[in-house]
Amino acid sequence: MASLLSNSVNADVVDLAATKLTHFNTNDIKTNDKDDDDFRTYDQETTPERVVEHYKLMRSKQTVSFYDRMAEKYHFDPTTGEGRRQMTIEEAFVELESYVDASDPDLDLPNKIHLLQTAEGIRKAGHPEWLQLTGLLHDMGKIMFLWGTGEDGQDGHDPKGHQWALGGDTFVVGCQIPSEAVVFPEFNDLNPDMHDSRYNSKFGCYTAHCGLDSLKMAWGHDEYMYRMLVANKCLIPKEGLDMIRYHSCYPWHDKGAYKHLTTEEDEETLEWVKLFNQFDLYTKDEDNVIEVEELWGYYVGLIDKYGLGGKLWW
Ligand SMILES: [Fe+2]
Ligand SMILES: [Fe+2]
Repeated sequence: MASLLSNSVNADVVDLAATKLTHFNTNDIKTNDKDDDDFRTYDQETTPERVVEHYKLMRSKQTVSFYDRMAEKYHFDPTTGEGRRQMTIEEAFVELESYVDASDPDLDLPNKIHLLQTAEGIRKAGHPEWLQLTGLLHDMGKIMFLWGTGEDGQDGHDPKGHQWALGGDTFVVGCQIPSEAVVFPEFNDLNPDMHDSRYNSKFGCYTAHCGLDSLKMAWGHDEYMYRMLVANKCLIPKEGLDMIRYHSCYPWHDKGAYKHLTTEEDEETLEWVKLFNQFDLYTKDEDNVIEVEELWGYYVGLIDKYGLGGKLWW
């Protein structure tokens, strides 16, 4: 069960069994008394209009060619790691301070607070340091708004801006969108790829069980942040990097879609992502006060330990 990676600082603790995945209780994670069903309610009657609009645009515009264009735009040099700009994690947090997620029906707080709430939830549950750091970093890919445009769904300067290529639930592009597994399936037909015979079948451009890493998801903060951490030679084990890369793919990790494309090994990744997701979702609480200054010193230690101290490429 344990996956020991050579680049892991704490290779011995990357053990799914040791995380007691099956023993968690969401009430131990939550900092308020919301029911599980009160999170992530999506329908056109009760969901805020901005969220419905977000998903309509996301479903209409996230295609294989859009993914390819974004992957090119947010390229990191494979040798030098060079990206667009150099910043420390702390400097990136300062940039993210004004960013508010337009797609999230559960939270209207700055992302830094959500990231610290997630990391602190993981820490309080006794999970290892690499997992805590994963919690702290997992949404930082929304920093793409610095280089994005509203037209490309990356306007994070205005909380009402279009953010459909920054956040929101992702899905696999290049094959049929699973109506039973996505929010607002009524928008699936708006996707141009669903009218393209290369992409609108069950397997689309993929082969059976080609594996999670071969799939292109709707472009957003997950994939960008994964690529950024790899480019900067981050020492978080693969399990943590996968949590960051796939945490927004609710159709896969929450609804069990895409089994025809994934492998047996991906099942373990799924368990890790599910574990992570409990903290991402259930620590969201606007009344859970986070003492940023007090906590920051602790997380700076983790940032350094996992090779992310100093200026990084973004
Ligand atoms: Fe996220
Ligand atoms: Fe998150």
